[in-house]
Amino acid sequence: MRDVAVIGIGMTSFGELWRTPLRSLWAEAALAALDDAGVDSVDLITIGCMSSGLFTGQEHLASLLVDELGMAGVPAARVESACASGGLAVRAGFAEIAAGLADTVLVTGVEKMTDVDGADATYALGTAADAEWEGFHGITFPGLYAMLARVHMATYGTTREQLARVAVKNHANGLLNRHAQYHLKVGVEDVLQSTLVADPLRLLDCSPVTDGAAALVLTTVERAKELAGDRPVVRISGSGLATDTITLANRGALAELNAVTLAGKRAYAMAGRGPEDIHLAEVHDCFTIAEIMATEALGFFEPGQGGPAVERGWTAIGGKVPVNTSGGLKSKGHPVGATGVAQVVEIATQLWGAAGQRQVEGARIGLAQNMGGSGGSSVIHILEVV
Ligand code: COA
Repeated sequence: MRDVAVIGIGMTSFGELWRTPLRSLWAEAALAALDDAGVDSVDLITIGCMSSGLFTGQEHLASLLVDELGMAGVPAARVESACASGGLAVRAGFAEIAAGLADTVLVTGVEKMTDVDGADATYALGTAADAEWEGFHGITFPGLYAMLARVHMATYGTTREQLARVAVKNHANGLLNRHAQYHLKVGVEDVLQSTLVADPLRLLDCSPVTDGAAALVLTTVERAKELAGDRPVVRISGSGLATDTITLANRGALAELNAVTLAGKRAYAMAGRGPEDIHLAEVHDCFTIAEIMATEALGFFEPGQGGPAVERGWTAIGGKVPVNTSGGLKSKGHPVGATGVAQVVEIATQLWGAAGQRQVEGARIGLAQNMGGSGGSSVIHILEVV
């Protein structure tokens, strides 16, 4: 297997971008990444997108988007794993370079979610659940994660305030990220008094509905060393992919995220690392409970200790293992197909020492954890300075 490095990043601002169509959003991020890498041709383009059909009426993205870049003819493929589509696009690009099928790959993720109203967005997102056993009965994603939160609270004593502290931290980090959808200073009381969405989850426990795109250029470590200039070379040392049952009813345990545990073990094994080696992480905080459960599944904290950890400031910038320095899905926004790519954009930025006010001092190894649906799939990447 060949070693793979990140040599370029690009992303749009995340938010309600009414005036920008999907193809333009995507092209903005793609061109920024190519420009950042200093390359003008690639061997492959991967596109993570969950549901452009339901959100915008557009499928067949690969040929639409290569055309937008004037690159018709280049191999391109869209990949889908619900909210983990972006992470899967990273893995697809990584795998092709590692296997020697491509030398340089443009990895992208995009979602344009606000062209439809709230009910239609909720329906489109809901198609990532089991349509027959969950969706048909009216369950929504806030509802599924509310059930996971209830079980976690009953099993481990996780408190409502600990959930709120995830939102407080991530909104504080998002204030330092110019790409973030929300630049809001949020306190615990603001979260506790925000509108109830699905008990116990409130508005400020939820990631929003977002438009946005993100992109990376990957190549071999050898070529990266030639192109890197002053930047440290950052390689993807581990990649892990795993699934779990799509429906919560078929899971053995609801206080754990097994797909995250499994994908993490696979990524750690490939990288020859463990949770104790990770200097910072971007995790899939689609709801505040998801961040707490992910930090436990990744082995940063024992089961049940994710809540106390956030309360003690261990996951804040300056803490033991800073989590979601970008603002996370909560504050930066969650354009579902773009999220997994944007997570790697943040980790690469941190490892290059280019994260400005939110820089984690001495960061040399970072992890990005992306998740589909209510934990039915997860993709994890570990990045490190060579
Ligand atoms: N966090 C912070 N503020 C939010 C927000 C969020 N998640 N969602 C909406 N807002 C704000 C809006 O900016 C707006 O503010 P304004 O009145 O100052 O303009 C206000 O709250 C109302 O926005 P609106 O779009 O009408 O909210 P909504 O009730 O239609 O949607 C949610 C709120 C929580 C239902 C929606 O954001 C949602 O479905 N989130 C979950 C997305 C999801 O499931 N993703 C997949 C995860 S697996």
